[in-house]
Amino acid sequence: LRELWVELGERRYAICIGRGLLVRAADLLSPFLNPSSSLLVVSNPAVAELYAGAVESSLAAAGYKYGLALVPDGEEAKTLSVLAGLYDRAFEAGLDRRSAVLALGGGVVGDVAGFLAATYMRGVTYAQLPTTLLAQVDSSVGGKVAVNLPHGKNLVGAFYQPRLVVVDLNTLATLPAREWRCGLAEVVKYGVIWDEGLFELLESQVGLLARYAAPCLPEAGSPAPGLAARSLDSGTVSLLEEIVWCCCRIKAEVVARDEREEEGLRMILNFGHTVGHAVEALTGYTAFRHGEAVAIGMAAEGRLAVAMGMWPPQELARLERLLSAFSLPTRLPPELSPDAVLEAMHRDKKAVGGTLTVVLPRRLGEVTVVRDVPEERVKEVLEESRS
Ligand SMILES: NC(=O)c1ccc[n+]([C@@H]2O[C@H](COP(=O)([O-])OP(=O)(O)OC[C@H]3O[C@@H](n4cnc5c(N)ncnc54)[C@H](O)[C@@H]3O)[C@@H](O)[C@H]2O)c1
Repeated sequence: LRELWVELGERRYAICIGRGLLVRAADLLSPFLNPSSSLLVVSNPAVAELYAGAVESSLAAAGYKYGLALVPDGEEAKTLSVLAGLYDRAFEAGLDRRSAVLALGGGVVGDVAGFLAATYMRGVTYAQLPTTLLAQVDSSVGGKVAVNLPHGKNLVGAFYQPRLVVVDLNTLATLPAREWRCGLAEVVKYGVIWDEGLFELLESQVGLLARYAAPCLPEAGSPAPGLAARSLDSGTVSLLEEIVWCCCRIKAEVVARDEREEEGLRMILNFGHTVGHAVEALTGYTAFRHGEAVAIGMAAEGRLAVAMGMWPPQELARLERLLSAFSLPTRLPPELSPDAVLEAMHRDKKAVGGTLTVVLPRRLGEVTVVRDVPEERVKEVLEESRS
């Protein structure tokens, strides 16, 4: 078990990373749980089938009262109506102000369960038990919780920090290939924005990691646990532990220094996201998963940095090679016109006062937030980026 901390004064919390931690959930969480109040485990059917048993038996063995609430699989779970159902479940399960919510699943479950915790009875304790690579390296840390509105993603939410994040690497054994790809896109992002060593580690282990991301593995649903589990040997788990630890350390530091994205530092986590969000929105959130759109975005924003003379082209080539090795897309779909992408970039909720702000690399491991990026340049690069 490796532990690191998100330093937020009296709200500081630990991220525990290791194997087989779900069966120890009650033990790890006991400092934050009130033995006489009920708990609510929030998950979805696919994840619950694989992993709720481990958490439930740990809670039951320790004598905790708990309920299990399931939300639909996928982004549909992040709606106000699903949230309303969760408030009912919380009430039925007897949650009170000293209760806790445990979010067991990917980023979707983490976001909606976190928002439930932030708002039920003006806020109850919660912990994140992330089961996708993306959630383990990104969404479970930092306290951004939200649901979507028909007008857009994450429009109703809060900054509400968990009390603990428990990363059980064993859960990655069942992750579908496409979800590996999406998680790896965010991992690559950390390498570019902060940690050249992490980027080099990914390059040196590309063959091993690419096996999990390869499209020939099952794409959707919950594959038989034995299938991928066979290939998560202890060498791979050590590598994953190192990778997840590096990413969480970066996210923890950025969040500790700029919790509410007010100082500008947290914005660096948006590398690849300005173009990425535009691509997701223009394709109706169906053609690409978030990580895939971010991969397209990182390549496009990388090209912009090169075009602006800020970034050596050899480093862009390394980024593109790594993304391609993970079977991630690096080109914009040809049907998206640069004008439409540019307009969507302006609509992104992070655009401020009509000017385009983009996070651009200077060298591997370092980025800068560039305001007032010349639109013509962006358009040219978007045109070049179409496949
Ligand atoms: N709060 C934040 O800071 C933050 C950051 C990034 C993304 N997000 C949000 O995260 C969401 C995406 O999260 P995600 O990529 O984890 O997607 P997800 O939660 O939809 O999970 C992806 C799929 O994998 C399945 N799954 C999860 N764990 C599994 C496992 N161990 N084995 C087999 N299948 C498993 C899920 O059932 C789902 O079908 C988006 O809604 C995004 O907005 C939030």
